[in-house]
Amino acid sequence: METRPAKPSGSVTNPTQQASPGNMKTIDVCLSPELMHLYNVEDRTVVVVDILRATSCMVTAFAHGVESITPFANLDMCRAMKKNGYITSGERDGKKVDGFDKGNSPFEYMGADVKGKKIAFTTTNGTQAIEKAKGARRIIIGSFLNLSSVVKYLLFGENSVLIVCAGWKGKVNLEDTLFAGAVVDKLRNHIEPDCDAPLAAQHLYTIAKDNMVSFLSNSSHVKRLARLSINKDIDYCLTFDKYQIVPCLVQGVLKA
Ligand code: MLT
Repeated sequence: METRPAKPSGSVTNPTQQASPGNMKTIDVCLSPELMHLYNVEDRTVVVVDILRATSCMVTAFAHGVESITPFANLDMCRAMKKNGYITSGERDGKKVDGFDKGNSPFEYMGADVKGKKIAFTTTNGTQAIEKAKGARRIIIGSFLNLSSVVKYLLFGENSVLIVCAGWKGKVNLEDTLFAGAVVDKLRNHIEPDCDAPLAAQHLYTIAKDNMVSFLSNSSHVKRLARLSINKDIDYCLTFDKYQIVPCLVQGVLKA
């Protein structure tokens, strides 16, 4: 399977919605789930992103036929789903949880064993961010693996947008910010940035986009995963547009 990070494509065009001050949707970026209290999400589509690796894993799982993913912030609640026939998945501090069926590597979600299955998923940051986004008009899952599909979804949807970066334990990280910047960049002619966070993210993405692996080489979670010898996941999670799906949260359950 080809996992080499690809070069990104440019801005998108939308024949049906022209940028004009009257009909402009807006886009904002919440750089950490700890800043969620600053945003009113009732009218927005929220894109939750945890590039390394929760949302990349979820997108991969759906691309390989998983029926649903139920995200849990709480580890014990996730564990309890085993008795209901769910595959229990996830990590704490990057490491697979003792007694769980699977960890948080996308490569664990490509086999026939996940096809048609229901997964209960909990991670250190990604599923916590999903929990904090509840109350949004709509919640979708973003990653570089489904970037263009997410962009199209936002472009043709009627709601303004908030990208919620999962970060690391409340702190900002580079990889989620780069994804936010990529979305802002691709929608630049159609959706107006709300404040400076989307602009900052877009600037970072512009600098990084042609070699994200090298740009992220000193980032905290890349170093953390490297310490756990989880290197191949990094290149894979930085691959553009491998899949054309948009997982969406419906009544607490993610479906593709
Ligand atoms: C998270 O949710 O914090 C992660 O995806 C961490 C990881 O397993 O890389």
